[in-house]
Amino acid sequence: MNNNLRPVGIIGTGKYVPEKILTNSDLEKIVETNDEWIVSRTGIKERHIASDNQATSDLAYEAAVKALDSAGLSASDLDLIIVATITPDMSFPSTACILQDRLGAKKAAAFDLSAACSGFVYGLATATNFLQTGMYNNALVIGADCLSRITDYTDRNTCVLFGDGAGAVVLGEVPEGRGFQSFDLGAEGAGGAHLYLEAGGSRMPASAETVEGKKHYIYMNGREVFKFAVRVMSSATEAVLSKAGITKEDIDVFVPHQANIRIIQSAMERLNLPAERVVVNVDKYANTSAASVPLALVEAVEDGRLKEGDTVVMVGFGGGLTWGASVLKW
Ligand code: UT7
Repeated sequence: MNNNLRPVGIIGTGKYVPEKILTNSDLEKIVETNDEWIVSRTGIKERHIASDNQATSDLAYEAAVKALDSAGLSASDLDLIIVATITPDMSFPSTACILQDRLGAKKAAAFDLSAACSGFVYGLATATNFLQTGMYNNALVIGADCLSRITDYTDRNTCVLFGDGAGAVVLGEVPEGRGFQSFDLGAEGAGGAHLYLEAGGSRMPASAETVEGKKHYIYMNGREVFKFAVRVMSSATEAVLSKAGITKEDIDVFVPHQANIRIIQSAMERLNLPAERVVVNVDKYANTSAASVPLALVEAVEDGRLKEGDTVVMVGFGGGLTWGASVLKW
């Protein structure tokens, strides 16, 4: 990164998952599946599901309040709010604007960012650039999704995979040598057909037919996304390490997108990473899309796993298809 830019890192963290837990045995009563299949194919044991009166901004709000508190800042200190989500409260206004109002962050610019499960890392890169150049001082970046709202609970291929949650970080200036060292963002739009939600946009507006045809739910070609994920988890990590001028041996804490334990294990093998350096919580939360990377990061912070000076690598991948990776000196 350009050394004339000021160092920017994470100065506060918070997370929130809804209270309601949906276990694999609960799902056995809804679709033809079983705990053994789900655990052996995905590593997931349970997931948290938003209550009927909770929307994505409500999850984001809970995480944001904790992140601001841990940063020792108030909402009025924020210059920028980015919410990475594919399940906004509504098409517009953005979930970030709804959150800005609820937090009382009156001077903050606010927008949503759509990069599916890579959204949080895309958001970190975006906010970091605003802060490094000095345009803004403090930014709130949140990954939040309520995938339960766009999941077809009659489709066993997808309904066992997803959960709801939010993870938030406050970005600000950090001491020289700390903070974000590099980012690697990418997209393969040609793979968009492997993971999408078809209706409700300008191509196919919502109608009785789209509801009948179940076109407001996630469609996923699991095997194709799996192949993409395995490939980019290691290639994006190698790219971002190289940009930071370090090697995989320098990674202290690896925070991967929590979609499937087999994808994480394959990245560990390709990158030669021992289990103690890898954060895994897919068993508890399943795939929470944009919330997945920050939920894992914040859990590692709360568990005391992250020590000052640690080199942290975060990697997300998902719909788009997209990927995003970052190297952060904690
Ligand atoms: O956030 C980013 C996006 N998502 C991902 O990263 C997901 C990437 N993909 C995956 O994680 C995996 O492909 C899945 C977990 C989705 C599926 O695992 P798989 O090993 O690729 O299984 P499969 O799709 O090849 O299905 C194997 C079998 C099929 O039966 P047949 O056709 O072999 O008789 C499925 O019908 O497993 C069956 N199956 C199930 N059985 C019990 C699929 N879902 C279930 C289920 N319970 N829930």
